[in-house]
Amino acid sequence: MNSIQSNIKKAKKYLDKNHCVGVPTETVYGLAGNAYSDMAVKKIFKLKKRPRNNPLIVHYHSIYQLREDCHVNDNFLKLYKKFCPGPITFVLKLKNYSKISKFVTNKQKSLAVRFPKHPLFRKLLKNLKYPLAAPSANISTRLSSVQPSDVIEEFGSKIKYILNGGKCKIGVESTIVNLTTRPKILRLGGLEISRLEKVLKKKIPLGTKTKKIVSPGQFRLHYSPGIPLRINVKKPKKNEAFMLIKKRKVTFKDYYYLTKKNNLKQAAKNLYSLLRKIKKDGYKMIAVEKIPNVGFGKTINDRLNRASKF
Ligand code: TXA
Ligand code: MG
Repeated sequence: MNSIQSNIKKAKKYLDKNHCVGVPTETVYGLAGNAYSDMAVKKIFKLKKRPRNNPLIVHYHSIYQLREDCHVNDNFLKLYKKFCPGPITFVLKLKNYSKISKFVTNKQKSLAVRFPKHPLFRKLLKNLKYPLAAPSANISTRLSSVQPSDVIEEFGSKIKYILNGGKCKIGVESTIVNLTTRPKILRLGGLEISRLEKVLKKKIPLGTKTKKIVSPGQFRLHYSPGIPLRINVKKPKKNEAFMLIKKRKVTFKDYYYLTKKNNLKQAAKNLYSLLRKIKKDGYKMIAVEKIPNVGFGKTINDRLNRASKF
């Protein structure tokens, strides 16, 4: 048995016993548990210190599995065909007789689902008899994890096992689209909205909370490095770390580049790890230069805005 197979076997062993396991995805690391098990799902909420009314995303290997739990529609099929597996999460109607634990959805009738692309995670899902509920692997309101060492920083020995899939390729969470009504974007993320709009051949508005559904925007502070962060800064204060996207002629030790080439996709990928590094380097405050609100810049600004509410 090679090491990949034996690691997957290990992860499966823990998951089958209703324990939580750290899993790699192309976006960020997840804290996974059996989505059909009340016990496993309750553990996820406890470990993350996550409010019970903030529902989880369930990860599937195939559409066949998904059909057992959710009603699919035309918009879903179009987007699924084009982007899955990939960094997109769909909110769909839950079937009445689905086996999904009621704790995943907080008893609501919709379910957020996703088909992650990371090959190791896909192999794991293929080996399981159940889908995996997996929120980002971080304590609630804090920075998401993009590599195994981040997951250890968040949970230490409280989780049994982390499936090591290296560093996440995208580095920010999936884009969430609500398809239970007219399509609406609930969270900006690793897939640009313009690409979804092209497939559905219409504008997809940003939706915030609906009556009952809790959406990510409902929680003010999020994605926080745990120290104050200022955005749209031209000149940093003394002792502030300065996060930049444009290369300066003269660089100081307080300067941290998300990208030197104004590449916003690369900046998004580096965002969480650079924030973690700044904190580790001992800074007590962070200033960020203005980031253009286009493409991945929109996702970055969404995260920084929330992080600035500290
Ligand atoms: O990239 C990702 O999506 C990562 C990886 C691990 O897959 N997962 C992730 O999960 O970001 P989490 O739990 O950190 O964020 C999921 C967001 C939450 O803010 C939650 O409010 C929203 O999805 N959500 C979950 N179920 C929902 C539902 N039925 N309706 C509306 N929003 C929902
Ligand atoms: Mg999260």
